[in-house]
Amino acid sequence: MTPSTKLALSDAERAQADGELFDFLRIPSVSADPAHKADMQRAADFLSSKLTSLGFAARVEATAGHPVVYAERLTDSAAPTVLIYGHYDVQPEAPLEEWQTPPFEPTVRDGRIYARGATDDKGQAYAHIRGVELLLSQGELPLNVKFLLEGEEEVGSANLEPYLRQHAEALACDAIVISDGSRFAPDVPTVTYGLRGLSYVEVLVQGAGRDLHSGSYGGAAPNPINALAQIISKLKDDKGRITIPGFYDNVEELTADERQMWARLPHDDAEFAESIHARGLSGEEGYTTLERLWARPTLDVNGIWGGYQGEGSKTVIAAKAGAKISMRLVPGQEPGRITKLAQDYIPTLAPHDVKVEVRAMHGGQPVKIDLDNPYVRAAGRALEQVHGKAPVFTRGGGSIPIVAAFREVLNAPVVLLDFGLNADAPHSPNESFALEDYHNGILTSAALMVELGALGS
Ligand code: BES
Ligand code: MN
Ligand code: MN
Repeated sequence: MTPSTKLALSDAERAQADGELFDFLRIPSVSADPAHKADMQRAADFLSSKLTSLGFAARVEATAGHPVVYAERLTDSAAPTVLIYGHYDVQPEAPLEEWQTPPFEPTVRDGRIYARGATDDKGQAYAHIRGVELLLSQGELPLNVKFLLEGEEEVGSANLEPYLRQHAEALACDAIVISDGSRFAPDVPTVTYGLRGLSYVEVLVQGAGRDLHSGSYGGAAPNPINALAQIISKLKDDKGRITIPGFYDNVEELTADERQMWARLPHDDAEFAESIHARGLSGEEGYTTLERLWARPTLDVNGIWGGYQGEGSKTVIAAKAGAKISMRLVPGQEPGRITKLAQDYIPTLAPHDVKVEVRAMHGGQPVKIDLDNPYVRAAGRALEQVHGKAPVFTRGGGSIPIVAAFREVLNAPVVLLDFGLNADAPHSPNESFALEDYHNGILTSAALMVELGALGS
């Protein structure tokens, strides 16, 4: 097959691809919840048997956490080798009552599959498996294909990096392809060339040794919730800049070219606010919304607890309070260093009568991909074949912790080819994936492999 041969899915192939994805989505593979340990194994086995049926040498490999699925089909040592990465774990379904149909009973409404993991990342990862199957239905694969599918992305991928280093030789490849993010807009094919990193900490504030009557003690005793609110309020200034000393050291500034390229994208702040049903937007002064999302670091409280949360009122001063804080990082920032800076600084913001502890949770390196390489250009051509127009190049605000390690350990370029949309509501209730996006993902994956095969190794 030449790169220009038009690929298509028959109705029967489409129905089969949908049915298999639904089976995959029915497995509640929530990596964060130990109660789902057996489901993680089931999801891994599901992928491994599917890949085996496609003629791959597939195995499910145990790690210190959830298993890794590795599969390879090596057709020609002279041809290029692509490694396709994805994750079979999903975010917890909570809050369950907000789902219109159950999270692990995939349901189609208005052309969209509703289920936890539909877009992040089961649907996008499975599109590659069906893309390979589509090519195989027409003959042999034009290149060597390796799949690496992990079960711990949503909890920080801590066990994948050691796996990667141990199996660096087996995983050797010319390029790594990942579909685990969002394209810019419904009618805009996208190649993503950057992801933010992450530093995640938990702040614990201790006041008195027990909860206290707020009348008998209020006004004199320490109040950890008040203290936490004070701490949080000091973490950003009135220009939206983070106050942690050294936080912005070495932050790579946007180039004028990038700013111009992003300014030309079809974006409207009012529409963006409307798309999330918000009254408005806010962020760091001096940057546009897209710049704030893709090229600037952030600090956001993700959760906060303390005191009485039940019905009615209870007059009590809590003994403890806490907050979970995510900091999204950009090129130039190192997660370990940022975590340390936060750990040193946050306790200094507290009033003297409470004790503050800042615990490191997990992190991930930011990445920026050089667009000037043949694999990225091949992805652009594959998208153009399927969508009839050339892609735009954007960065993404989220994090895929293993990407930086891929580049370093495998020394191969990463291609981020996203099939989903932010509007698919990943991590939220009623996550979905448009059937059309899934099917186009399958076609794009197949087209990309033909393009990569034609590059030679
Ligand atoms: N698929 C996302 C990452 C993503 C989101 C990339 C949006 C591009 C745009 C991934 O599954 C994810 O949610 N990652 C976590 C990583 C964390 C748990 C270490 C994230 O970004 O919060
Ligand atoms: Mn994901
Ligand atoms: Mn995710």
